[in-house]
Amino acid sequence: MGTKAKIIGTGIYIPEKALTNADLETMVDTTDEWIQTRTGIKSRHIAADNQACSDLAVEASKNAIKDSGLETSDIDLILVATITPDMFFPATACLVQEKIGADCPAFDISAACSGFPYALTTAESFIKSGMYRNILVVGAEKLSSFIDWDDRSTCVLFGDGAGAAVVTAVDGNSESGILSSYIGSNGKYADLLKIPGGGSAVPPSHDVIDKKLHTLKMEGKEIFKLAVRQMSDSVAKVLDNAGLSLEDIDMLIPHQANLRIIDAVMDRVKLPREKVFINLYKYGNMSSASTVVALHEAVKEGKIKEGSNVVMVAFGAGLTWAATVMKW
Ligand code: ACO
Repeated sequence: MGTKAKIIGTGIYIPEKALTNADLETMVDTTDEWIQTRTGIKSRHIAADNQACSDLAVEASKNAIKDSGLETSDIDLILVATITPDMFFPATACLVQEKIGADCPAFDISAACSGFPYALTTAESFIKSGMYRNILVVGAEKLSSFIDWDDRSTCVLFGDGAGAAVVTAVDGNSESGILSSYIGSNGKYADLLKIPGGGSAVPPSHDVIDKKLHTLKMEGKEIFKLAVRQMSDSVAKVLDNAGLSLEDIDMLIPHQANLRIIDAVMDRVKLPREKVFINLYKYGNMSSASTVVALHEAVKEGKIKEGSNVVMVAFGAGLTWAATVMKW
């Protein structure tokens, strides 16, 4: 019965420098108590000045390829999900291709925090079509370059990091692999979360810099409500497509933006807390890197084992949302 796509290796890279809530207390008018109670975040990591998004992606990619047991020469396609590329063009995926020494097509995917499951779904489609066999899927962000470090309502939320997965073709009768994927978008809400300046709508200028329009702006409260609703609906939809029910889920890997969003989703979908993986307290929101880094850590910590049914669900700017169910 055709072909299935399966993740056979994962890897991450988290920059060395940690920025704690205590550090932020010295930068803006905030407190560790506010950040922890409103978001669950205790710390996040910040890339060095000489590290670009592709450098984080390269380290995660090397680790994922090693974990998969494949060679770099086996990779047929590279997809990098990011909203903080090294440059508008060329694609960060092309820079990663050169730096890891691969010889294959490479392109970026922009779906903000839903970036990794969006890219995973793209990889799954290429594999199912028979076009490519081994695909490197990366989620990488250097958000620290686009944060307004004077805006306490956003600067406490985000961090830098990267994760990668090697996805390969397996026999369609194989039990393990991706069982179902679901992606969605609604540009009606584009204004809720964006970097307004620096693109072709508002090109770079002194005014853009003076007004900090090159940094991330967010309507947090609106995003919060939409995130809860859309992530809950996406979990229901992807399970339905896979012919599974909530009782079949062994581990939920949600986008790691805010602990209160995850709690509200768990309440709505009625999943017990021990079935959700959370690492946002140490990394903050790493946008497209969050879900793949969480997946990697859940596997390495033994919370996802062979045969586990795993649901990944994300939500982000666009607005975009995405969910994937896979048997490990
Ligand atoms: N420290 C102290 N006080 C703060 C801080 C801070 N860091 N930030 C905001 N406040 C204040 C506000 O000024 C406000 O004060 P006021 O009542 O005097 O006006 C008060 O705290 C409450 O602010 P709210 O915005 O109402 O706080 P809320 O409980 O909504 O939490 C938060 C804000 C954490 C941003 C929340 O709305 C959230 O998580 N939203 C979703 C964000 C998200 O998930 N984004 C996902 C996608 S990201 C992507 O795609 C790149």
